[in-house]
Amino acid sequence: MKLDDPQLYRQRAYINGNWTDVGVQEVIEVHNPATGESLGFVPDLGQVETAQAIEAAEAAFPAWKAKTGKERGEILRRWHDLVMAHIDDLAMIITLENGKPLEEARGEVLYAVSFLDWFAEEARRQYGDVIPQTRGDQRLFAIRQPVGVCGAIIAWNFPCTLVTRKVAPALAAGCTVVLRPADQTPFSALALAELAERAGVPAGVFNVITGNPRTIGGELTANKTVSKITFTGSTPVGRLLMEQSAPTVKRLSLELGGNAPFIVFEDADVKKAVDNLMVSKFRNAGQTCVCANRVFVHDSIYDEFAHQVTAKVGELKVGNGLETDVTIGPMIDDKGLLKVSELVQDAIDKGARVLMGGNRHALGGNYYEPTVLTDVSQEMDVARKEIFGPVVTLFRFKSEDEVVAEANSVETGLAGYFFSQDVARVWRVAEALEVGIVGVNTGMFSNEVGPFGGVKQSGFGREGSRYGLDDFSELKYICLGDVE
Ligand code: SIN
Repeated sequence: MKLDDPQLYRQRAYINGNWTDVGVQEVIEVHNPATGESLGFVPDLGQVETAQAIEAAEAAFPAWKAKTGKERGEILRRWHDLVMAHIDDLAMIITLENGKPLEEARGEVLYAVSFLDWFAEEARRQYGDVIPQTRGDQRLFAIRQPVGVCGAIIAWNFPCTLVTRKVAPALAAGCTVVLRPADQTPFSALALAELAERAGVPAGVFNVITGNPRTIGGELTANKTVSKITFTGSTPVGRLLMEQSAPTVKRLSLELGGNAPFIVFEDADVKKAVDNLMVSKFRNAGQTCVCANRVFVHDSIYDEFAHQVTAKVGELKVGNGLETDVTIGPMIDDKGLLKVSELVQDAIDKGARVLMGGNRHALGGNYYEPTVLTDVSQEMDVARKEIFGPVVTLFRFKSEDEVVAEANSVETGLAGYFFSQDVARVWRVAEALEVGIVGVNTGMFSNEVGPFGGVKQSGFGREGSRYGLDDFSELKYICLGDVE
């Protein structure tokens, strides 16, 4: 990995301010999804090392908690500045290990630092309440305190953002963290740990542990010292973490899978809806939890919409994200590729027509053709499963009631989008959709100031925003008596 600052390429785990030695450990090999080439190794650590990291986080907690919010915010601010100073290296690491085009990876670094920026400020604003008393001799207060040691487990699709979106609020609130990055993308998290160390995050406050997900997740959930688990990933793994966390009654924030409806009503601006679908659908080659998964288009504009979207999809350029002009990278691995291929085949077998793509890409490897499917129906697997790939599925609808019912007919509820110029409908449908995030006349709502999270089996808890600190703090009620 050629970086301006080679120290950011860390092939070790980071525990209690030390970089653990790979030489004596089992290792996990990391591959570039664009080429299959090896990018290097990280240690395959297990229960013992996870317990050590938790112990380190516990030992670091009292001093970190004792700092003022302002002091913690200053350290987060320095971390932010260092990430900005190394934006090119971080973008390069993201592209190499995740596959997204370099320009998009730069965008991800900017998105990631926005959480450091935001929570550097929010650290100072962890307000409590003075509650009007019910007796003359008492005074009542509610204060916020950090929950303690947090376990953070993240996915591979936003290797920098998922780190900062969890670690920044945790640290701002006064918690300490043991983070497990995904096997496919550990180097971004390790580079961020290197920069956190340079920023002055004390040893033990932020630890990164690589290795077996079951063993590490098992220890993070079983260990009594860990007060909270924050997780981004699939719904089945979220369920497992809930189960495993039950005996020690841990707090949880789960950002799980989605199946976002994208509804285009008859009164929508079709061109704007198409442009925004491209943004929502093809970001990270369709591998985001909030990607438009089911595109419902009103019967009266269906053919025009299908025509316009197919033309736009034809302009996408698939390839290695390091090449200029490439807009779509590979799927993360062969498992991801297989899932997309099977979903498309199932839809075709059940009557969907391919307007564009529909196959593995001629480039081979993990590449899949940007695809548009029409005549998609509820019987097909794409109606219920998250595609996580560059596939547009066009469903036809005739009435608002029908489409809202179909949009809500799935078990998950992370994001939903719709396009309409009718103000009354905008409120009606925004309120009716069973999701945590609604994009109205836009395909992009992700930022550090909006509360990000789902309902139903997409999980619970909110990341970013002024609510983001709440998930990492306890509300303590203090009743002061004998005041008169
Ligand atoms: C995700 O897919 O997990 C995050 C997407 C986003 O933050 O927009």
